[in-house]
Amino acid sequence: MPTLDNSKIEEIRKSVNIVDIISEYVPLTQRGRNYFGVCPFHDDHSPSMSVTPDLQIYTCFSCGATGNVFKFIMDYENLSFMDAVKKVADKGGIDVNLSSIKSKKVVNSDLYEMYDIAKKTYQNNLNSEYGTKAKEYLAKRDINEDIIKEFGIGLSLIKNDVLTNIFIKKEFKNADILKSGLIVQNGRGMHDIYSNRIMFPLDNLEGKTVGFSGRIYDTSDTSKYINTRETEIFKKGEILYNYHRAKDACRLSKTVIIMEGFMDVIRAYTIGVTNVVASMGTAITRNHANLLKKLAPNIILLFDGDAAGEKATISCIEELANVGVTPKVVRLEENLDPDDYIRKYGKDKFMEKLENPLNVMEFKMQHMRATNNLDDPTELAKYINECLKELNRIDDDILREVTLKKLVNESGIDEDLLRSKLVKKEEKPKRVLREEPHYDKYEKEERNLIFYMLNSVMAIKKYMKKVIILPDDNYRALANKIRYFYEEHNNTFDVADFYTYISRIDNEELVKILDSVLNMKDTVTDEKIDASLEAISGFSLERERNRIEKEIEKDTDLATKKEKLRKLTELKSRGEKND
Ligand code: UTP
Ligand code: MN
Repeated sequence: MPTLDNSKIEEIRKSVNIVDIISEYVPLTQRGRNYFGVCPFHDDHSPSMSVTPDLQIYTCFSCGATGNVFKFIMDYENLSFMDAVKKVADKGGIDVNLSSIKSKKVVNSDLYEMYDIAKKTYQNNLNSEYGTKAKEYLAKRDINEDIIKEFGIGLSLIKNDVLTNIFIKKEFKNADILKSGLIVQNGRGMHDIYSNRIMFPLDNLEGKTVGFSGRIYDTSDTSKYINTRETEIFKKGEILYNYHRAKDACRLSKTVIIMEGFMDVIRAYTIGVTNVVASMGTAITRNHANLLKKLAPNIILLFDGDAAGEKATISCIEELANVGVTPKVVRLEENLDPDDYIRKYGKDKFMEKLENPLNVMEFKMQHMRATNNLDDPTELAKYINECLKELNRIDDDILREVTLKKLVNESGIDEDLLRSKLVKKEEKPKRVLREEPHYDKYEKEERNLIFYMLNSVMAIKKYMKKVIILPDDNYRALANKIRYFYEEHNNTFDVADFYTYISRIDNEELVKILDSVLNMKDTVTDEKIDASLEAISGFSLERERNRIEKEIEKDTDLATKKEKLRKLTELKSRGEKND
């Protein structure tokens, strides 16, 4: 299978500006020549990541994350190198034959294939003569052909061996067939799990189908939906319904809306609200919370209007607080879910709700007001105390202040009294910076030299002319790779492309060194380059002297001893000139 050659990959990288690309993910502000933003690769609120347009590199001084545009996208979106390249090519408008690019080898490829086959089979069923009733059901719910196609909706037939037979015919191994979670084995052999249900594909973050939810439509089976059990490729806590379709819209609008049911998401789509995902009835996990945080800075919880939805909202707020995010909340009246609400009240009224979400304190106060009778002094006191307790958990100073004022107005209680009940927020602990490792004098100088070489062609030239040997194998290898890369590119050097080159030669040590050197704060001058080269050549002499001295001690032959002593004196005199 053909892959992209290096010069094409470099062309792709140069087709975009790293500042523009990272801005799509993280808000950046310009300070001087560089741009700064909150690093998405560690838990933080202050801008510790800087993006250097001159080098087309980002670095985080807090966690050390470093790289070029490919590395950023790989780490942010959990993509393979080639998938990140494809993505950048797409953004840069560079035409590459995408299907010919080899992607990361897929493990469990048989499982993915079975799901693909299942999805297509279900889709065909829906369009066959057996699909009439299911289509009527969907039409009754205002789900049109476009939506059916977009979401890959299908139908499992009453006959419950359709998939089983296809899988057997395609010669999948029995063990794999059973591992798929789509087929079970009982006394009478294997058969399909799903029969006579409308099938909604559940996709992973990349958009590959890894499970289904099957809904009843013309029977009164006790379970409304049946979901695929967890398999090697389907982990409920790791996926959000509609994630891959929604992510661009979320980034553009800087907002992600989260709902409980996938039917709610589908309905939202029909009225053009596309920055929406669903948790599918399960509690939000830490993993989900992190995914949501990465999708957009503003998160809106739009759960069902019933008591269960209210409870889910509260626990989702908690989980998001654990990753440092404060969402907003929309509550729907009459116990309606978003699907019902949109159908009953229409797009405009829904949009109005969406555009006026509650902040978490408003939501919590509303909740507490509803559960306490504020005309009763004891319950009023309980309400105020509960509000203060919640308020004390809030990190956002301004929100605390606004809410306190509200509480004063509402209760008529003296502001100073209420304020005295607030726990004084402790000063945020100073950020723990990465501990600077201790480098010995040799390594310090080697790091300086590599830094100069990465930042200045003059340093590369001087290094080549001086013919020195760096003491450490890794630094020496890196210096020589810089030299090689420079010569390969007709005596030019692009550090962002060099980054690609080093990350692809599969030597973790070199990548680590490169990352940490790129994180150094220094400037390059001719004097500094010369001083560094001098010092390093001094090191090689020093090492040679030590080596010869040790040998002389051991030597028994007088002639060779004499010869070595002569060499040593010569080295020493050279060394003195150097020192
Ligand atoms: P809901 O009961 O709110 O479903 O469950 P819904 O979205 O309103 O669906 P319709 O309108 O009745 O068709 C919310 C989510 O909980 C999961 C599903 O993922 C659903 O989207 N669920 C619900 C199940 O897994 N099994 C069930 O039996 C019910
Ligand atoms: Mn519903």
